[in-house]
Amino acid sequence: MTENPLRIGVIGCGYWGPNLIRNFNALAEAEVAWVCDLNADRLSHIVGLYPHVVATENHRDIMGDASIEAVAIATPVPSHFALAKEALEAGKHVFVEKPMCETSAEAEELIALAKARGLTLFVGHTFIYSPAVQEIARIVRSGELGKIYYVASRRLNLGLLQRDINVIQDLAPHDISILNHILDQDPIAVSASGSAHHQEGVEDVATMTVEYAGKLQAFLHSSWLDPKKVREMVFVGEEKMLVYDDVEPQEKIRIHDKRVVRPPHYDTFAEFQFSYHYGDVHTPWLRGGEPLRTECKHFIDCIRSGETPLSSGEHGLRVIRVLEAANASMRNCGARVELPPLCESTRS
Ligand SMILES: NC(=O)c1ccc[n+]([C@@H]2O[C@H](COP(=O)([O-])OP(=O)(O)OC[C@H]3O[C@@H](n4cnc5c(N)ncnc54)[C@H](O)[C@@H]3O)[C@@H](O)[C@H]2O)c1
Repeated sequence: MTENPLRIGVIGCGYWGPNLIRNFNALAEAEVAWVCDLNADRLSHIVGLYPHVVATENHRDIMGDASIEAVAIATPVPSHFALAKEALEAGKHVFVEKPMCETSAEAEELIALAKARGLTLFVGHTFIYSPAVQEIARIVRSGELGKIYYVASRRLNLGLLQRDINVIQDLAPHDISILNHILDQDPIAVSASGSAHHQEGVEDVATMTVEYAGKLQAFLHSSWLDPKKVREMVFVGEEKMLVYDDVEPQEKIRIHDKRVVRPPHYDTFAEFQFSYHYGDVHTPWLRGGEPLRTECKHFIDCIRSGETPLSSGEHGLRVIRVLEAANASMRNCGARVELPPLCESTRS
C-alpha cells in the first residue's frame, strides 16, 4: 500500500532552510505544506519558487495544524530548543538543524520528550550522509588504514561571521559528527583555544584537540578568517594514510600507501633504523547524489519505520557535549576538560 506523502512544515527560510525545502519537495514521500520565517521577504521568495506552499510568519500556525506530521527547523541555533520542544509537544516529528541546541541539558530534554511521545528526533548532521564520509567509514572500519594514530581536520574560509555562536559551534559540529560516526566511539577529553578578533566573546578562529581511547587524537582547526576555503581531513593510520578533501569536486578521497616501517630485528642500537614505505595513491570511486537528499529521505523512512536515525537526538547530544567541553576549555585558557561517559537514560 502506498502511504500518503508526509506533510512537513519548514521553519526558517534563510540561507539553509531553502535547501531543506528543495530536497523535501523533490521527494515523492514528502509534501512541504507550510513554510515559516519572521522575514516576509524570505517567505515571498519561497512562495515564488513553490506556489503550492502556505507561508506564515508565526510558527504556531504549523504547530496547530493537525495534518502536519513533521517540522524541520533551520533557524539560528538559540531558537532550536524552544521550537523543537514546542513541535514535539504538539506531536510532530522533528528535524532540527545542527547543532541541535545550545546545551547538553536541553538536548537531553528533547531526547526524553521525543522518546516519551514516540516521535522521531533527527539532527541535520548532513556530512554523515555524504558518499565520501560513508566510504571513509567503510575503509576505516575495514582496517585498511590499520590502527588510526591521529586525525587532522581543517575547516577554514573567510566568513561567514556569525553573531550568536562562535566558530567552534558553527564549523566543528561537522568534524565531530563525522569523527563520531567514522570512529564509532566517544571522545574522553577535549582542550581548545581560540581568539575573537571581530566581536567581543565570539571566537572567529579556534583549534581543538579531541582525545579518544588508545592514544588516538583529532586536531581540529576552525576559522572564519582564512584566505582559502579548506575542508580537509587527514586520517593517519599505522598502515596507510587517507586524505579527504571535500572541496575537490571529483577525487575527494585519496588513500596513500605510506607508513613508517620499524626494523623487525636488530642486535645493536646502531643497527636500529626506521625506514619509510612509499607506495601507490588510490582514489576510490564514489557514487553521486546530494547528501541532503539522502538525509531528508532517511528522516521520512525513520518516521515511517520507527528506526533510529543515523543522526539521532543522541548523535546530536554527543556532538554538543564536545562543543560544550571545548567552550569550557577555551574559557579556561585551554585546560583539558574530561567528558564523562554518556548516561544510559539519554540513549535514544
Ligand atoms: N547542515 C548543514 O550543512 C548546514 C549548513 C548551513 C547552516 N546550517 C544550520 O542551519 C541553521 C540556520 O542557518 P542559516 O545559515 O540558514 O541562518 P540564517 O540566519 O541565514 O537563516 C535563519 C532564518 O530563520 C529565520 N528565523 C529566525 N527565528 C525564527 C523564528 N522564531 N521563526 C521563524 N523564522 C525564524 C530568520 O528570519 C532567517 O531567515 C543553523 O542551525 C545552521 O547551523 C546547517
